[in-house]
Amino acid sequence: MKTLLIKVDPENPSAEALAEAAEILKAGGTVVFPTETVYGLGGDATHSESAEKIYAAKGRPSDNPLIIHIARPEDAEAYAVTGKLYYRLARHFMPGPLTVILPKKDTIPLTVTGGLDSVAVRCPAHPVALKLLELTGLPVAAPSANISGKPSPTCAAHVIEDLDCRVDCIIDGGEADFGVESTIVKITGEDSLVLLRPGTVTYDALCCVCADVTVSDNVINKLKENERPICPGSKYRHYAPDKPLTLVGGSDEARIAFFAERQKEGAVIICYDEQAAKLMPDSVITIGAGDDLEAQGHRLFAALRECNSLEGKCVFANLPSTDGFGLALYNRLIRAAAHTVVYPDQI
Ligand code: TXA
Ligand code: MG
Repeated sequence: MKTLLIKVDPENPSAEALAEAAEILKAGGTVVFPTETVYGLGGDATHSESAEKIYAAKGRPSDNPLIIHIARPEDAEAYAVTGKLYYRLARHFMPGPLTVILPKKDTIPLTVTGGLDSVAVRCPAHPVALKLLELTGLPVAAPSANISGKPSPTCAAHVIEDLDCRVDCIIDGGEADFGVESTIVKITGEDSLVLLRPGTVTYDALCCVCADVTVSDNVINKLKENERPICPGSKYRHYAPDKPLTLVGGSDEARIAFFAERQKEGAVIICYDEQAAKLMPDSVITIGAGDDLEAQGHRLFAALRECNSLEGKCVFANLPSTDGFGLALYNRLIRAAAHTVVYPDQI
C-alpha cells in the first residue's frame, strides 16, 4: 500500500490540508494524526472493518481495545453511557490528555472494544486532531501509531519508521507536546474511579474532581500469573527497545558509579542532563534535567527508540520517582524494563 504523507501547520491546520485525510477516514481507511500526547492510528470507530485494519497495521492483538476520539465531550452521548462524574471530568480536563472508560452503546462494534461492554472515550486538545474530527464528523478509533510493543511515536519520523506502507495516510504535525499517552480512568461509581494508566492528568489532579480515586495495582506492579487486568493493554509488553533495559534505583552517587561501570562493559545509558557530564558521551542518551519531569516525558519514547541505533548489548536508565507526573514515567519505564530493577547501593 502506498502511504500518502501530508504536512500541516500544527498550530493552525487548514481545512484544505486535512480534507483528503478526512475523506480517507470516511471511506473506511486508516490515517495517522498527531495529538497532544502521541501520534494516533485512526479509523472510523463505527465500522468493524476499519478497526480490523488498525489491528492489522499495528500487529496488535484484537482483544486489546481502542480509544474512541471525539471532537466535543458531549459527543460521547452517542457511543457511551455518561453521567455527572464524566461531565465533571470533562469540564476540568477536556479537551486534553484524559481518557474515560464508560459503558458502551451499540453504535460502537465489539471489534473496536476488544469484545468488552465498555468503551474508552477521549477528546484530544491538538488543533490537527480536533480539526480532523470535526471534518469527518465521526468518532475516530485510534491507538498509538506504533507497531505493537514498540515505544509510542512522538513525531512523524517514528510513525514512518513503523507504519509506512501499512496505513493509507500519515499527517505530519511536528512533535507531540507531552510525549506520553493520555491518563486513563474507569468510572466505577457516582463519585469513584480507578486510575488505569497515569499520564499528564495526575492522581492529585483527579482527586480534586473525584472523591474516591484508586490507583490500579497494575500501574506499578507486575501482573500476577493468570491475572486479567481491567486495562487489557497492561498485559502486553510495551515501550521496549530492542535491547534489554534495566532500571537503576538508589542514591545519585551510586547510580552514576554504576552507569560508568556498565558503560565500560558496552552498555547504553539513558540519563539526566547533569549525570551525562560524568559519563562517556558516545553511549549516553539524555532526557532532560533530573527535576524536569515534563522534559523527560517529552523525550522518553524518542530516547527508547534511539537506543536501537546505538551499539551496545543492553540499556540502563534511572528508576523514576512515583510522585506527580513521575508516576507516568515510572509506569512506562517499568514496563519497558519488564520490571527489572537494580539498587547498586544494596549490592
Ligand atoms: O494518548 C493516548 O491515549 C493515545 C492517543 C493516540 O490518543 N492513544 C493510546 O491508545 O495510547 P492505545 O491503544 O495505545 O492505548 C489505549 C489503552 C490500551 O492499553 C487499552 O487496553 C486500554 O487503553 N483500553 C481501551 N479501551 C478500554 C476499555 N474499554 N477498558 C479498559 N481498557 C481499555
Ligand atoms: Mg499504545
